[in-house]
Amino acid sequence: MEDRFKVHVEEVDEVEIQPAETALDEAAYRLWRKAMRTGTWDPAGVDLSEDKKQYEDLGESQRVYLEAFCGAFYNAEENVAVLFCPWIMASGSLWQEAFLGTQLVEEYKHTDFFKRYFDEVLGPEKRPRALANPVHDTLEERGKRLLVALNGPKEERTMRFVEAVTHYQGIIEGVQANTGYQIFLDVFARKGLLPGLSEGFRQIQRDEGRHVSFGLQVLRHYAHKDDRYARRIREMYEEYLPFIRRRYGQKIKVDGREYDTPEEERGLERLMALYERRMRDIFG
Ligand SMILES: [Fe+2]
Ligand SMILES: [Fe+2]
Repeated sequence: MEDRFKVHVEEVDEVEIQPAETALDEAAYRLWRKAMRTGTWDPAGVDLSEDKKQYEDLGESQRVYLEAFCGAFYNAEENVAVLFCPWIMASGSLWQEAFLGTQLVEEYKHTDFFKRYFDEVLGPEKRPRALANPVHDTLEERGKRLLVALNGPKEERTMRFVEAVTHYQGIIEGVQANTGYQIFLDVFARKGLLPGLSEGFRQIQRDEGRHVSFGLQVLRHYAHKDDRYARRIREMYEEYLPFIRRRYGQKIKVDGREYDTPEEERGLERLMALYERRMRDIFG
């Protein structure tokens, strides 16, 4: 295989959390600077030609799994990109807004990458095979509540912001998406498969590391500041856990046929390990 197709396999976990007493604006400024320095990849620059060949050689159940897996990421990236503006507006400070502005652009970059992957590798007609994602279905409502709170008392706006960050950065990105990256590494990348998708995921995961770092910093800050926020964050994690657990260990159904998920997925095990880790990140 030519050098440019070599798969980069590495654990990219760039989540870094400062002590709870660090001012949120200071943490946000630091992450904003990091986004300016490192968030510069171009989704159009990833070479997908080898992926196209490899995809055609995969076994049928591996192909179906890949389509369902990438479709779920594509839907999730696009869904959040179009709904994310209220998160920026409700943060209430210059550097938090600046950082969240980079997150908005990056969610569009991730959408752009998956659009290319379907157009050039999997075929756009495969997108409806995406796994369902009930935790995403309530994001629109979450954004509407943030907008209503913008004109309300400060305390209410803060509570709605904490809830929105718990829902998106804390649970969807911090637990669910991170589980997905680990699965991709074991099911495909570590076997030397799909170098273009591996490169895309590596870059996306690096961006997401900043998004999750900011989210966890916000939650850690408020959880240590006031017990009411701490209780609400915990309650939401518990409320969403059954929804994110439900996706794993199920067969994938396509055109009346059922396909097993790969043995290496170990989705529930990975999900629960991340869930426990996030509890420590926020409350520890
Ligand atoms: Fe993303
Ligand atoms: Fe993100």
